[in-house]
Amino acid sequence: MRKTRLLTLLMASTTLIVAPAFADAPAIVAACKSCHAEDGSGVGIHFVPVITGIPAAHIEEALYAYKDGARQCGTEPAMCQTVALLTDENIADLAEHYSRLRRPSLNEPYDEMLVRRGEQVHGMHCARCHVPPDHPDVADALGYPLHGQHPVYLRYALKAYLDGTREHLLEQMKEKMDLLEDGDVEALVNYYASY
Ligand code: HEC
Ligand code: HEC
Repeated sequence: MRKTRLLTLLMASTTLIVAPAFADAPAIVAACKSCHAEDGSGVGIHFVPVITGIPAAHIEEALYAYKDGARQCGTEPAMCQTVALLTDENIADLAEHYSRLRRPSLNEPYDEMLVRRGEQVHGMHCARCHVPPDHPDVADALGYPLHGQHPVYLRYALKAYLDGTREHLLEQMKEKMDLLEDGDVEALVNYYASY
């Protein structure tokens, strides 16, 4: 079921439009601002992910994954409680809204050595599906942008896939994750933070 929905959403996805869109934001963003901030970059709590620069189809996919339990809210149960109340129309409106906002640069520290190793690991295992938010093919990519995502959130999300607390929606990603060696996760997190 879920896999079919992912593919349907991906096929329906349109080109990412990057423009400030606070003015015509749907009223329901009020339910998200306390954690994700008006601009979607988060309010400084680093386990809250940046939710801008993600194509609408993927934002929808993530929200449905929280709604139906494929993703658990390990750090903040209120995220899942909020999403449980959203209608299909709310989810479509929110995905459209946040997909139009540009992802800001992070200003988080990173280690140059780890960045170089992370870039290699990314190129080998992840680049096929995960491209940067301003990449021309971002709307067609199977995975969504990890470049510029908060390191604390990425570390948590990768650990959740590895220990099985977050379900993989795509078997091919699991196959790549299984190839990671000791230290690769930290290298990847530093590489994505350097964007
Ligand atoms: C109480 C704080 C809180 C509220 C309110 C909240 N979120 Fe979240 N959001 C989070 C946290 C924390 C996560 C990471 C959850 C996890 O995977 O454990 C998250 C994850 C997400 C993700 C996944 C991003 C990714 O990169 O995979 C999306 C999309 C999202 N939230 C959108 C929303 C929307 C839209 C709303 C409003 C309807 C909302 N959130 C309300 C804290 C919040
Ligand atoms: C075959 C395509 C594919 C490959 C290869 C792939 N991924 Fe993914 N990735 C996805 C898809 C699709 C999702 C969203 C669905 C899901 O949660 O399973 C995703 C989700 C993620 C997320 C969650 C993002 C968020 O904001 O919550 C992370 C982190 C991630 N991938 C990291 C990686 C890393 C690191 C690699 C390389 C070791 C990788 N992926 C390889 C397709 C892929």
